[in-house]
Amino acid sequence: MCEGIYKVLVSGGAGFMGSEFVRQGLREGYKIVVVDRLTYAGDLEKLKGLSGRFRFYKSDICDQKEMIRIFLTEKPQAVINFAAETHVDRSIYNPAIFIETNLRGTQILLDISRRYKIKKFIQVSTDEVYGEIRRGSFCEESSLKPSNPYAASKAAADLLVMAYVRTYGFPAIIVRPCNNYGPWQEPEKLVPLAISYALKNASVPIYGTGENIREWLYVSDCIKAVLLVLKKGGLGEIYNIGSGQRMSNLEVVRIILDILGKDKKLINYVKDRPGHDFRYSLDCSKIRKQLGWQAKVRFTDGLKRTVIWYIKHQGWLTKHLCKNPPIPTP
Ligand SMILES: NC(=O)c1ccc[n+]([C@@H]2O[C@H](COP(=O)([O-])OP(=O)(O)OC[C@H]3O[C@@H](n4cnc5c(N)ncnc54)[C@H](O)[C@@H]3O)[C@@H](O)[C@H]2O)c1
Repeated sequence: MCEGIYKVLVSGGAGFMGSEFVRQGLREGYKIVVVDRLTYAGDLEKLKGLSGRFRFYKSDICDQKEMIRIFLTEKPQAVINFAAETHVDRSIYNPAIFIETNLRGTQILLDISRRYKIKKFIQVSTDEVYGEIRRGSFCEESSLKPSNPYAASKAAADLLVMAYVRTYGFPAIIVRPCNNYGPWQEPEKLVPLAISYALKNASVPIYGTGENIREWLYVSDCIKAVLLVLKKGGLGEIYNIGSGQRMSNLEVVRIILDILGKDKKLINYVKDRPGHDFRYSLDCSKIRKQLGWQAKVRFTDGLKRTVIWYIKHQGWLTKHLCKNPPIPTP
């Protein structure tokens, strides 16, 4: 645990990554307060087995009065902001809610955290803020060149966080993880989408030629890094969180089909996403050298675990697919 920090407010704690933070944070001995609006991506089932062990508020981070009430009641010492609209395709259809939650929501949390003298504020950003890189890797000083409304809303929030650090001496840290995968991820994202379609012997859509490259990190590895940043991260710093394991979307889907013993003919190439970044790649030497963190889970092992998890949770997968069917290619 971090000295002087006992209670952590986790926004977006009912989402994919936030719920993993709640599980690991409780194990580390933190008291956890979850604030989540329970959008289509939020689901308390992700926290099942933990009820009674954390406080929960079904609230919107954009609701300033409600946030003040929660801060006054709970008096957290740290805030981890996972809450966000996170699906790039949805941002292409409807950018407004992305600006509202990802930028304005962050500003409200920053202001209240400043007012109530929070000791550490961790902004969960993304590698997408850098835009694409054909060769080499982005380091934390690389310029921000987001390519889609989701990435732009996250980059704008990063700039705001850094402005608070500079202007007010606000104790914030930004983390920029690469693509996460693992249990409890919404089936709109590539890995669970491919698993769920393949399980039904339905065709698996892949954008363009499938050659776009992403860096893949198992969610529990990522959250270990976030907890380490909470404990030892330097105020005002930015940390990339990656695995070095880069793979094209096509390779990812092929491995999933192999694990499931399904025919590669299920792969269906569809019209490419507008503005689709070709390649992401992070240089993570800073977090490795300064905090001693390195990803542990090999991609193929993590993917096998993930596939097995979704096979065991097909009811949950089907429920979420029916409730929020993947949107057509923008
Ligand atoms: N999943 C990834 O691969 C990845 C990679 C890098 C960065 N990130 C970032 O990590 C964070 C978490 O991502 P995720 O994949 O867990 O997202 P997710 O979509 O699974 O979960 C987002 C959570 O935020 C909640 N939420 C949305 N709007 C809210 C609001 N206005 N007020 C309160 N709660 C709200 C949702 O209900 C949901 O529980 C995001 O900030 C995302 O940008 C994700």
